[in-house]
This record gives sequence, C-alpha cells and structure tokens, in this order.
Amino acid sequence: MILLAVETSCDETSVAIIRNGKVLSTIVSSQIKLHAEYGGVVPELAAREHLANLIPVANAAMTAAEVQSDQVDAIAATQGPGLPGALVVGLKAAQGMAFALNKPFFGINHHEAHLYSPWITGSPPVADFDSFQPNISLIVSGGHTMLIHVESELKHHVLGSTIDDAAGECFDKVAKLIGLPYPGGPEIDRLASAGNPKAYDFPRPMLRDASDDFSFSGLKTSVRYFIRDNPAVLDSLQKLQDLCASVQEAIVEVLVTKTVRAANRLQVKCVTASGGVTCNRALRSALETACKRKHLTLRLAEKSLCTDNAAMIGVLAERKLLHSSTPTSLDSEIMPGW
Ligand code: KG4
Ligand code: ZN
Repeated sequence: MILLAVETSCDETSVAIIRNGKVLSTIVSSQIKLHAEYGGVVPELAAREHLANLIPVANAAMTAAEVQSDQVDAIAATQGPGLPGALVVGLKAAQGMAFALNKPFFGINHHEAHLYSPWITGSPPVADFDSFQPNISLIVSGGHTMLIHVESELKHHVLGSTIDDAAGECFDKVAKLIGLPYPGGPEIDRLASAGNPKAYDFPRPMLRDASDDFSFSGLKTSVRYFIRDNPAVLDSLQKLQDLCASVQEAIVEVLVTKTVRAANRLQVKCVTASGGVTCNRALRSALETACKRKHLTLRLAEKSLCTDNAAMIGVLAERKLLHSSTPTSLDSEIMPGW
C-alpha cells in the first residue's frame, strides 16, 4: 500500500511517500530564510509560499520514491492545528488529489503525528510501536510545549502544556533580545556549547508545580531585565556564551524534570521526544542522562524528523488505515485550533 502525505501547518511545505511502514521519500521545503527577514513566521507569506511550492514538492517526493500518482492508494494531510492560511493550502490540495484519484483521505492532527516521529527511524521500527506502549511523549517546538500520555496506540491524552510561551518561542525571544537571527534556538545551542551553564542563575518556572503544565514567559522576562541591568554581557563573547548556556540550562532542566516526573508517576517505561527544540543538544543529552538514571527507555526523533515533516503525517495515516479508522470526509475543513 502506497500513501502520499502532505504537511503545511506552519512554514515547512512537505510531502512524503510511505509504503508499508517505510518512508520511501520525504521532501521538506523550508521557508525559514524568507521569514527570518521579519524575525518570525508571517502567516500570509507562509500561505503563499505553500501554494507556490506544494506541487513541485509533491512531484519531487514521487520522483524520489519512484512512484506515479496512479499507484497511490491513500492520501493524508495535516488538518490542524496550525496557521489557517497555511493549513488550507495543503488540506484542499490533498483532498483534491484524493477526489481525482478516488482514494481514501485522512485529515491528521499535527500533534498526534509528532508522537510518531521518534518511531520512524531507529530500532525497533514503527511496526513495533505497540511494544513500547505506554509512553510519555514530550512535544516541544516553536508553537507548542506538551506532555502527552500515550496509553496505547491512537489512545492518548494531553497531561500538560504551556500556559504562555512555548519553549522554542522562549529560545527565539531570548535570541532576539541578544541580537541573534531568527530562529534563535539553533543559535543559542551553538553559543551555549562554549558557555558555562552555571554562570547566571535564571528561574526554572513551574518546576516544582504539581501540574504537568509549563510556563516560559517569566524566564524570558527575567533575561530581559538581566540584560537591561548588565548590558556589558553583550560585549563579551564569553559572557554571551555563558548567558546562552545558562538560559538553555534553565529551559532544559524544566523540560527534562517534568517529563521524567510524569513518566515515574504514571509508571511508564518509555519516554519519547520530538518537535524542533528536540534538536537541542543539551536537551537530548539531559534526557539521555535522566532516562538512564531512572531506567527509562528513551526514543528521540532523529534531528531531521524533529522539525515539521510529512513523513510523520503519513506514518500516522497509515497506522489509522491499519487500525481500520474511518477516512475523513473530502468536505471537511481545516481545524486551526485542534
Ligand atoms: O517544530 P518546529 O520546526 O516548528 C514549529 O514551531 O512548529 O520548531 C521550531 C522551533 C523554533 O523555535 C527553533 O528555534 C527551535 O525549534 N529549535 C531549537 C533548535 N533547533 C530548532 N531550539 C533549541 N535548540 C535547537 N538546536
Ligand atoms: Zn510541529
């Protein structure tokens, strides 16, 4: 069975071809350079870029997989959550394809798909997804920070999420305060690698809070005041590196502590993580250390699959097909707040 999947929820136009649990191709056209000029994603520009890029990206994915459109057995696309103008391009194009080819269509929840990115590569493969249930999944990106309890496949619920800024947003806003280009997360990661994470003490918001929720806007504000009161930190590379390392450590400590705590409380044996911030080297290494200490199996999405991609959309759609889920109506609309 061959499935074509489309992802256009934010600033990445992506199409993937999946066959029997295997990703034959994933093409991602990123708009980061376009939005960098504005210091963040401009929704209107994102929608226009998806419109221009989707068909070439779909053709490239089919060529790379050596698949013709008449061989496709099912189509999937992100239905939400995401930017309305961006979602509508991918969803309507995919529904159009499904209509033209007379094949089933699956509208996919972007967050639910993120739960699958750690399983796409690595061992055991996604076909063994069942064997690692239940797990606690951390989804951490520029738009979201969520802890999810995956009880069994296709059965999961959100334990907590951010009450204000997402962790990636915090990285990006702090980077902006320091004068680093967008997106700031990778820049902070790079500078932090040569810095001392104990140099400056920043708050660990909601670390001791009993809930599984997160909050990062106070941390960003405390960095703002710190820079206001100590402007000289921006004039020294070493101090800048120390600042980045200290902020990064505050974010990472909150994410890792709350994830592992939830895993212990719910007595699961596996932790997974995905989303753009999971590219962060300090987060990956802290999760590895903490999980090892608590005898938890850790599955981190491969870096190229942490950020938004259609492979995760396709893998989830295929699992839905295998579980005999009902296809989504071709008349269904985008669900930006899903
Ligand atoms: O998942 P993603 O590509 O898009 C969404 O936000 O949905 O995540 C992008 C976010 C940005 O905030 C970016 O700064 C952050 O992920 N990010 C990182 C790193 N790489 C990407 N944050 C910290 N360290 C990184 N290495
Ligand atoms: Zn995402």
